[in-house]
Amino acid sequence: MTILLAGASGLVGSAFARAAARRGHRVVGTVASFAGPLEGLAQRLKLDLADAATTTSAVLDAFPEAIVNCAAVSVPEQCDADPALAQALNVDLPALLARLAHHVSARFVHLSSEQVFDGARTAPFAPGDTVRPINLYGRQKVESERLVHAAAPEFAVTVRAPLLMGNSPGGRRSLHERLLADWAAGKTPRLFTDEFRQPCTAENLAEVLVELCERPDLRGVHHWAGTDLLSRFELGERLRAHFKLTPAQAPLEAVARAAVPEIAARRQACLALACTSLTGKLKTRPQAVAEQLGELQLPPAVREWYFKL
Ligand SMILES: NC(=O)c1ccc[n+]([C@@H]2O[C@H](COP(=O)([O-])OP(=O)(O)OC[C@H]3O[C@@H](n4cnc5c(N)ncnc54)[C@H](OP(=O)(O)O)[C@@H]3O)[C@@H](O)[C@H]2O)c1
Repeated sequence: MTILLAGASGLVGSAFARAAARRGHRVVGTVASFAGPLEGLAQRLKLDLADAATTTSAVLDAFPEAIVNCAAVSVPEQCDADPALAQALNVDLPALLARLAHHVSARFVHLSSEQVFDGARTAPFAPGDTVRPINLYGRQKVESERLVHAAAPEFAVTVRAPLLMGNSPGGRRSLHERLLADWAAGKTPRLFTDEFRQPCTAENLAEVLVELCERPDLRGVHHWAGTDLLSRFELGERLRAHFKLTPAQAPLEAVARAAVPEIAARRQACLALACTSLTGKLKTRPQAVAEQLGELQLPPAVREWYFKL
């Protein structure tokens, strides 16, 4: 099928393009600022998705059987820094894409976040649980879900994703890429010992999104994550060990949330996700962290530092 992919240059979008192409789909992907190579695209469109008229023309020209929305202002701090741009990308864009999907009778796959929840309990959050976002990013994701499913109830499916690992096109987006860049620059990243996440890789999530393009019977809001819940500090230690670095080469500072209240106030303590509404129905399997680590590559920017150690 022809798939219009918004955000083909992102961590998830780039993985989606590769996964969809492997399955024989024709992917028309949009990029904004990224100029490097991307695999899996039959056509690459450079456009500003905050511009509704340009976006509408691009979708109508492609006349896709599915639209996948991986474009966003995906970092909460960047939403706070430019709320108007974040509103345009995180709320107005998905609402427009859902209306267009309804118009052309296309499947619409939207990405939301675990951050729709407050993270104030340790039990996993299920898709039907009450959402209670504690930051602007989370509030925008809640609003996007509401608008998307109102505009295209018969075509839309939303996946709330967890903290993502994986290999980004620029090599600077995901957790291992940022940690390695910090270590190469001689920094000591601070990671919370009491903030818990259930990560999965962008590559694994992308397989789920491709399946959802092919499964129009699955609608509504669902969760996807890995199988392990662990603290950010433990994840940092696992990444350091995976890349065979010592604490002297790759130092980490363990901190408690209470020590940095201004950051903790805007971040959820524990985001565990119940994923059974999808795991029973898809071929893709959720992965343990050990399996996820095996997919991670050394980003080009740190190779010189790494091989000199
Ligand atoms: N990363 C995570 O840990 C995580 C966790 C949970 C949920 N999510 C959600 O998953 C989705 C994908 O996230 P991600 O991490 O893959 O995002 P990302 O790496 O930050 O990529 C964002 C994408 O949006 C594009 N974009 C941004 N502004 C644009 C504009 N004005 N016009 C056109 N394109 C624009 C970027 O294009 P350029 O790069 O070309 O500028 C890029 O392709 C998002 O909905 C995010 O909220 C992410």
